[in-house]
Amino acid sequence: MFTSTNPSDTNEVIATVPEATAAEILTVLRTAKNAQKGWAKLPAPTRGRIIANVGRLVESNKEALAKLITKEMGKVYSEALGEVQEVVDTCDFFLGEGRRLYGQTVPSEMQNKNLFTFRMPVGNVFVITAGNFPTAVPSWYIVPALLCGNSVVWKPSEFTPAVANALTAIFHAGGVPKDILTTVVADGAQTFAALESGLKEGVINKVGFTGSTEVGRKIGAKAGEYIQSACLELGGKNPMVVMQDANIDLALDGALFAGFGTAGQRCTSLGTLWIHESIYDSVLAKFVALVENAAVGDPFKDVLFGPMISQKYLDNHLSHLKMVQSHHKVLGSTSTGRITAANPRKGFVGDPDKGVFAHPVIVAGITKNDELYSTETFGPLVTVGKFSTLDEAIDLANGHGYGLSSAIYTNDPQNVWRFREGISAGMVSINNSTSGAEAHLPFGGNGLSGNGSRQSGIWVLDQFTRWQSMNWDWSNKLQKAQMDLIEIKHDPNFVLKI
Ligand code: UN1
Repeated sequence: MFTSTNPSDTNEVIATVPEATAAEILTVLRTAKNAQKGWAKLPAPTRGRIIANVGRLVESNKEALAKLITKEMGKVYSEALGEVQEVVDTCDFFLGEGRRLYGQTVPSEMQNKNLFTFRMPVGNVFVITAGNFPTAVPSWYIVPALLCGNSVVWKPSEFTPAVANALTAIFHAGGVPKDILTTVVADGAQTFAALESGLKEGVINKVGFTGSTEVGRKIGAKAGEYIQSACLELGGKNPMVVMQDANIDLALDGALFAGFGTAGQRCTSLGTLWIHESIYDSVLAKFVALVENAAVGDPFKDVLFGPMISQKYLDNHLSHLKMVQSHHKVLGSTSTGRITAANPRKGFVGDPDKGVFAHPVIVAGITKNDELYSTETFGPLVTVGKFSTLDEAIDLANGHGYGLSSAIYTNDPQNVWRFREGISAGMVSINNSTSGAEAHLPFGGNGLSGNGSRQSGIWVLDQFTRWQSMNWDWSNKLQKAQMDLIEIKHDPNFVLKI
């Protein structure tokens, strides 16, 4: 049994759910695989109408779902509402895709012959997601996968089973058959074992995974063994570059939100704030003041951030504090580590001892050789460093090998274009924070952040469909491509004489 608790008050149990074994997951995968062909036969516009139903139901249950997210996972209520809206937006986009899902007609090189392309569903999709976005990120997989005619088996985070079951119930209420979307809660080892046997048996035809680079590497390798490429959304160490000419207050609003929103537990969270050396001291001082004065605590109140998702995430954060070195300055709060009555945070909202709250941390003076420079911290910890030229900033922004989200604050278009061209990240924000991607633009990373797969918008369709090409020769004779060429009369030696 898995028991999820409220991270703001760990004595409060939110849900107790059965824990699936690898054998049980395999049974579910087989059932889903068997059911998929029938689902694919349903016309795509009809599947689009089902997605429309789901979107409307998510919208009408928005507050209830958001409350459950804040209770089970701990993000502040306004962010939870935003997350649920992202599910609605995803449904709104894909309900129309049901009436598009275009293929092409392509000219043939021969007469009396026509060429076509069709999008074919891949089959059964195994989706494995993290706890930080317990509805939005899963919906980026589930909604387009279903729309394209696939079945889905979803393994959500064991820290958010109540939210997962609530979202699944909405999908079913919207008209998605139970065998076409099944949710199983399991631990990592059982999930991986089921992944392996499901791939071997052919009952997993696509894997979608959002989580750490370390786990993504294993999942990607396993999928590769079975000639599949997983859709991987992994970690980030997202840079934000502040040029001398930037609007500093705007940049710091962005840094505060990106660094500490969701307690820093977004894959798009700010990693390092890179400040031009000429303004470094003053910008750092302003940032420190903002972080010191920010309200932290009860996520149902008006605070910057609430608890960590669970003790595991807090422990992970504590391990990163050990990477602080003597040349760093630790700033931003009255202390570091877990917030408790004995280790208080000025202005804390609520009772810190009840939950798993962490002090916000700024680690200033980061350099390229530091462990913290290249470690995704996934908690309320922002590293700050300086640079002298834009080229140096781009080099620092790319040098760790992650490439998910990035940002530059500047009012000089030259800087914008040079940054856009030089940055290796999949997503670039100009005068905006690294977090807060819209639900219909390609989302995904390069290098350690992902294998180039993209979610959202039309781009994700290539994850959940395969192109089938068809040629139809109606000439009633065998025409041989590349060999039966139509002769073209022309004069290759022609020169204009004027
Ligand atoms: C994630 O953290 O996995 O851009 C996704 C954002 C959100 C999605 C984050 N729209 O921060």
